[in-house]
Amino acid sequence: VSGIEKATALRQRKGDRRITALTAYDYPTARLLDEAGVDLLLVGDSLGMVVLGYPDTTHVTLEHMLHHTAAVARAEPKALVLGDLPIDSYPDPETALASARQLVEAGADAVKLEGGIRQAEKVRAITEAGIPVCGHLGMLPQRVLEEGGYRKKGKTPEQAAAILEGAEALIEAGVFAIVLESVVADTAAEITRSISVPTIGIGCGETTCDGEVAVVTDLVGSFPWFVPPFAKPEADVATSVRKAALAYVNRVQES
Ligand code: KIV
Ligand code: NA
Repeated sequence: VSGIEKATALRQRKGDRRITALTAYDYPTARLLDEAGVDLLLVGDSLGMVVLGYPDTTHVTLEHMLHHTAAVARAEPKALVLGDLPIDSYPDPETALASARQLVEAGADAVKLEGGIRQAEKVRAITEAGIPVCGHLGMLPQRVLEEGGYRKKGKTPEQAAAILEGAEALIEAGVFAIVLESVVADTAAEITRSISVPTIGIGCGETTCDGEVAVVTDLVGSFPWFVPPFAKPEADVATSVRKAALAYVNRVQES
């Protein structure tokens, strides 16, 4: 199934079955999540923090993204593989398209970039070349340094209108879905009702969007040093790993 077919199928889910999305950065995780029936695997630039140990996503390069996208793609997921375009990989439409093509060559079905109106021409360049694009509005982690932290978005009617305007520009440019990050619940619900493509929420309240995305390390509890307030862990992998390592240390030392 081609990337375009997968993206079209997800777009058509609007108003029907909710979309399930998780991040994945490596082969075994991608394979396990795909076997569980997750619809979309995001090779997110959250990679920078939860896998590579950087303080934020501004350190992630296209090279990092290609390496991890290829690992996820080797699992041959039924899920749509969505590769994040990292900061500095889409300064203008030509560079954006060249970077998107490299992610697709590495195995991505589609790409995601952050921002609204100012990204519309870049989105258009990529979608016109036949590569599906997912938008990302609300809190934009690639701008965390300018913004001085991770804050809720869409609190005032003016902010809500600006997000909606961005969403409409992205849809006009051809996106198949839009991630909404840390948008207050009422605004996320209103945008979801107003636009023609699915919204995929994170930190927007449980039921406000057409789907949900979570960072896999938040879901399985494997990155205990920072857990966002909206995370809902379903496992405690950190404790399992610590216990296994301790058991191993004791077994080897005692033999
Ligand atoms: O990189 C990432 O994990 C993301 C999600 C937070 C949507 O972009
Ligand atoms: Na990201």
